Formats: sequence, structure tokens, C-alpha cells
Amino acid sequence: MNKPAILGGKPAFTPALPFLRPFLPSYEVMENDLKSIFSSGILTKGKYLKEYESVLKRHLGVDHAVGVSSCTLGLVMVLRCLELKGNVIVPSFTFPSTIHAIMWNKLTPLFVDCHNETFNLDPSLVEKAINSETSAILAVHIFGNPADVEVLEDIARRYKLKLIFDTAHGFGSELNGKPLGIYGCAEVFSTSPTKLLITGEGGVVTTGDDELAEKIRIGIEYGNPGDYDCLFAGLNARLSEINSLTGIYSFSLLEENAKIRNRLVELYKKYLSSIPGITFQKINGKSSYKDFAILVGSEYGLSRDHLWRALESEGVITRRYFYPPNHLQKALKYLNSNYNLPVTEEIAERVLCLPIYSSMSDDVIAKVSEVIYRIYEARDEIKSNQLLAVSSQV
Ligand SMILES: Cc1ncc(COP(=O)(O)O)c(C=O)c1O
Repeated sequence: MNKPAILGGKPAFTPALPFLRPFLPSYEVMENDLKSIFSSGILTKGKYLKEYESVLKRHLGVDHAVGVSSCTLGLVMVLRCLELKGNVIVPSFTFPSTIHAIMWNKLTPLFVDCHNETFNLDPSLVEKAINSETSAILAVHIFGNPADVEVLEDIARRYKLKLIFDTAHGFGSELNGKPLGIYGCAEVFSTSPTKLLITGEGGVVTTGDDELAEKIRIGIEYGNPGDYDCLFAGLNARLSEINSLTGIYSFSLLEENAKIRNRLVELYKKYLSSIPGITFQKINGKSSYKDFAILVGSEYGLSRDHLWRALESEGVITRRYFYPPNHLQKALKYLNSNYNLPVTEEIAERVLCLPIYSSMSDDVIAKVSEVIYRIYEARDEIKSNQLLAVSSQV
């Protein structure tokens, strides 16, 4: 077996293996519609947005699907339109946008720990965290793994809290055989290039609440109900025609994309499960596998950061999603709180997302897995190598 590149061996991938490649419709398929957008001069608020929204409504089985320019702004607007006060229960183990949407609304994030197997908000801790200032729960389907929706809905009902889902990773996921998008007061998807359904930049808010949907449509249009007598401070968070068109064609690839990714993950698991210390996220229903995360346990003999750096030198680009967790980031210092989030901190220290994209061959999965094994085999030599004195600050 070759020596790991970190010890002077030849890198496994030259050029480097990217972390992701967007699965896009071909330009040729979209060409005529693109021409029609350019020749009509209608670049926003046109027929492609309408078509895109109705495709999604049908697919998700939801009353309203509102295209927005990003998931971040969709979240900001949903929280704004629900007119929340006080604090919002939220996981710290998530992408910063989830938290920033709360902060933009001048609400306080009330962090609750995540579950050590699903990596999602731990519902058994949510109820204990509720206080007199709590107005909502903002849960996340982490990496596309459906959250414990039924339990959260029950808690929200009993405590009269609004329940919102950050469903940024959710296109391609299913719960009880149905897509996400129908839960809580609203769900907000992302359709940025790292997702399974892509519009370029963009997102979608789904809701069954007519009033909320109407308010969001006004809110993403400067707060203007149509007569420029604005009802509240809004945003421009519309989804353009070109983005909507890309979404329509990308939607036609979604099912295939999710199927391929699920198959690739099964392959990864087959190869990696025999390596000591490597474990996987426990899935509730079907995941989109927007990301495929492994946990690097102590039996692996190297830390997550050692593995991360050793893989980098092999030309395997990985991501430490989500590290550092939000409650330890500079943006949250102002809260000056003492958090008790041991699971979040442990997972954030051990998680590593491996490259995955639909055009990846089975051979590449086998090779990445073999490299992870080779690094494990050389763990003692790597650990004693001064070059690899990796601290968690790297
Ligand atoms: C959990 C989560 N929420 C929100 C976002 C923000 O999405 P967008 O880039 O569409 O604003 C992301 C981005 O990937 C995310 O991972």
C-alpha cells in the first residue's frame, strides 16, 4: 500500500478531487427558454417564476411556494412576518444563516443541544429549554436528515409556539414517504449551487398559511402591497426569471440526483464501516445527503483535523461542517452566555463531510475510502510527525 501523501507519498488525486460539483441541466436544454427571457425583456416577476412555484407546490403538496432570492432572506422574512418576540429555540450545530436570520430580527437565539446520532435538534431537550420569553422553535433538517417533526409539532402546539424549519438541505429528502415542505408554520429551502435543486442563488418558502404567504410576498417586495404605501420594512428578496428557469430544469433532475446520492452514500458506508472509529449520521426517513458526514471517533487514532489535513494532502477536499458551532463564533460573543451544549461541541469537533456529487464514479468512492483506511493504518507515524501538529484553530 502507498505511503500517505502527508508522509511523503504520492497524492491519491492529482488534480484534487473537488468537494462538490453542481448537477446542472445542460445549457442546450435551457437555450430556447433563455432566449425567450432575453427577447421578452421580462427578467423578474414573470411566467417562469409562476411556473417554477407551481411545479414546487405540486411536488411538495403544499398550498404556497414562494420563490425567494436566498434561503437566508427567506428565513429573515418568515421570522419577520410571524412577528416573533423574545427568544427562538434553535440548534447551534447549523450553518450560520439559521442563527443570523434570528439576529436580523433582533430576536435572541436560545441554543438547544443536538442529538448525538441524528445531529438534529434534540427534541427531548427542547421542552426543558422553553421559558416565558420563547416565541418559536427554528429547527433544521441537518444535511438533509429530516428533523423529529412530529415531536416538535406536538411541543409547539402545547406551548403555543411558532414552529419553523430551516429546510436549506431538504430538496431530495422525505419523511413518511413524502417530501419535506409541509411542516410547521413554514419551511425555507435553499437552492444555491451546493444543493440538489439549484437555481444559482435562491430559495423557496413553503407554507399552508394563506395570510403568512401573502405577507411574505409583500415582504420580499419592499413591504409594498402594490400601491407603494408600504406596510412594513421589507426587502427585495425576489427570485429572478433566469434563476426560476434554472430551477424548473433542475427540478426535472431532482429525483435522479437524490437517488444517485443515496446510492453513493451506501457505497461509502460499505467501504468505511469497517474502519475503526468511523461512524455515520442516523437518518430519520430519507436524506437528500446534501452532505455526507462521517464522525471521526477516538478509535480512529487520529483527530478529525488530522484526517482533514491528511486528506487535503491526498487531494481530497473535505469540509468541517459545522465547525465552529455558532455559539462559539465571534458573532455571538455579544450574548455573553454560558452554554451547555456538550453534544454540539463534540460533534463539531469530530464531523467531516466527504466529497459527494452525482457525477462521481463508484471507483472514486472506493479510492477515497481506501485513502481514509491508508491514513488510519499510518496513524502512529502521522501522529508522531511534527508536520501534523494540527490544532483545532487550523
Ligand atoms: C442550514 C442552512 N441554512 C441556511 C443556509 C443559507 O442558504 P442560502 O445560501 O440559500 O441563503 C444554508 C446554506 O447552505 C444552510 O446550510
